Formats: sequence, C-alpha cells, structure tokens
Amino acid sequence: MLLKKIKIGKFKTPNNLFLAPLAGFSDFAMRQICIKFGAGLTFTEMVSCKGLLYDNENTKDLLFTTSDEKIKCAQIFGNDPQIMRSAVESDALSAFDIIDVNFGCPMPKIFNNGEGSALLNNPSLAEKIIYECSKSGKPITCKMRIGLTDGKFITKDFVKAVVNGGAQMVTVHGRTRDKIYAGEVNYQEIENAKSVSSVPIIANGGIFTKQDAEKIMASTGADGIMIARGALERPWLFAELLGKDVKISKKELIKEHIDRLLTKYDDKTVSVIFRKQLCLYLKGEKNSSELKQRLFTYKDTKSIKLAIEEFFS
Ligand SMILES: Cc1cc2nc3c(=O)[nH]c(=O)nc-3n(C[C@H](O)[C@H](O)[C@H](O)COP(=O)(O)O)c2cc1C
Repeated sequence: MLLKKIKIGKFKTPNNLFLAPLAGFSDFAMRQICIKFGAGLTFTEMVSCKGLLYDNENTKDLLFTTSDEKIKCAQIFGNDPQIMRSAVESDALSAFDIIDVNFGCPMPKIFNNGEGSALLNNPSLAEKIIYECSKSGKPITCKMRIGLTDGKFITKDFVKAVVNGGAQMVTVHGRTRDKIYAGEVNYQEIENAKSVSSVPIIANGGIFTKQDAEKIMASTGADGIMIARGALERPWLFAELLGKDVKISKKELIKEHIDRLLTKYDDKTVSVIFRKQLCLYLKGEKNSSELKQRLFTYKDTKSIKLAIEEFFS
C-alpha cells in the first residue's frame, strides 16, 4: 500500500485512505469510528443544495459534525451553479472545510432531476458548478462515475472539465451509472483519469480487503482510495491498511457505536436508526438471521445490547 498525505487546498490529510459519502450510513458516529481506525478523510452523505437553502431541518441534521473530524468534508448535490454556490456559502455549511460535489448518484429521483450522475453528460455545466462554488474560497472536490452506460466512457473529458473549473481533487468511482453498485470496476478508466489530471485522483469501487486496496492502487496509479461498503461492514479495514495490529471485538464495537449515537439522539431513535448498520456488522456471522429479524422488534438500545451480548457470548 502506497501511503501518502493528500493536499487539498491548504489542508493535508494524514493519509490517502478515505471513507466515502454514504447516504443513510456515513453519519457522525460512523465517521468517528472510521477516523478512530485511521481513515484519513471522511465525508457526510450527500445533501441537497436546495434543501439547505430552504432550511430543511432534515438536511441540516445530516450535517452534524464533531471535533473528531479534523478536516470536515460535506458532500452536496444540485445542478444550478448559483444556488450551489449560495449553499456552499450558507451558515449550514460554515463548519465544513472542504465541499465535495456529487456527480455520481445513479438514483432515478436524483438523475431525473438533472443532478448527480446526470451531470456526467454535461461537463461544461459541471465545470461551471465547480468554478462558481470555488468562489466561496473553500476547496471544492468532486466524485464522479466513468459514464452513464458501459463502453461510453466520459472520464478523461469530464476530469479535464472539472479540474479546469477548479476542482482540487477528483474521486473516480470506476463504474458506469447503469451498473449502480454492482459489477467489475474499470481500472483502466481510473488510470485514464489520473493521466489527464493535475490534481489528486482517488480510486473508488469494490475495495473490501487489503488485496483489493493494493490492486486498485497498483493498477490505476491513483493517489489514494475511497472505501464505501467495505468500511460499513468492516470499519477496521482502515487499520489493516495502515499496517496496524487489529484485534477487533464486534460486540464491543457495536456497543460503542450505539453509545456514540446516543450522544445525539434519544434511545428509541437510536434503536431504530442503528438497525441497518447493525445488520452490516452481523453480515457473515453464522446463525445471525434470527437475531437480525428480532432486532427489528426492539425499541430500546438496552434490548439490542443484551441480544448482542448473548449472541457473541
Ligand atoms: C447505501 C449507499 C449510499 C450511498 N450514498 C452516496 C452518497 O451520498 N454520495 C456519493 O457520492 N456516493 C454514494 N454512494 C456510492 C459510494 O460512495 C461508492 O461510490 C460506491 O458504493 C462504490 O464503492 P464500494 O464498491 O466501495 O461500495 C452510496 C452507496 C451506497 C451503497
């Protein structure tokens, strides 16, 4: 693993192993845990620029951040350069050092609105968005896919456009929109991105193990990696990649995660919002399907902790 710091504007990350923005998952508690295991940078889930400007409480909640994040990154989505710049300059994002723009979301609700991956076919608008948001004075980065459909790759032209607009780092998810999150990751396209970029290129897609991380770095020449689902299932992957000796107790990690959520939310809320993350922690554990079903009936964290204690004893 080629470990190095990444410079983004005036900021320098401690390493090049990043946690991806993950809607419904990369909240403050998950980010804290990944930072504890060594993640060099973390991102909030994507937030709507329009939602921010209309003072949407739910959107603001997604931006809750703590001092554990030494460099704070928020990810935004939208398609109007002026509105997006206003959002970047709004109070809601004032705590954030770096703003990442989403050019990859494949979901129909976002795509049909001309946002997320819809921008991949409009590099000049993407360039304008980056250019306008950069006027805020904050470093602007972005996350893209390699095209909408397989074979029709837009990578090189898109990277050139966003770098021209002022992007200070580009993360390339090596899949097209039609693949959603499945299928092979195209290393060649990530390498192509690197070949035309004067700013750091971060490789994303299909990194679940140390071998995956080493392979994508070696095959693409990328400056760093961004891990998504692999980190949700095994956040200690960051420690493994850093060569740290990790002895992990899932039971303790689950309890710690609950306690972190309880610093912000009430007990009943935590018992509900933690369920899907808990199922990811239990992935691969033998005989856990009955427990997973039972977890959905608990309405307090004490019951969840007891069940987990019992399961792992
Ligand atoms: C549940 C889920 C939510 C996601 N939310 C976001 C998001 O908010 N912003 C974003 O740029 N990508 C999002 N992604 C995409 C991931 O950041 C990442 O690009 C993708 O999962 C590929 O990486 P992986 O193979 O390591 O999982 C999401 C993916 C998943 C599975």
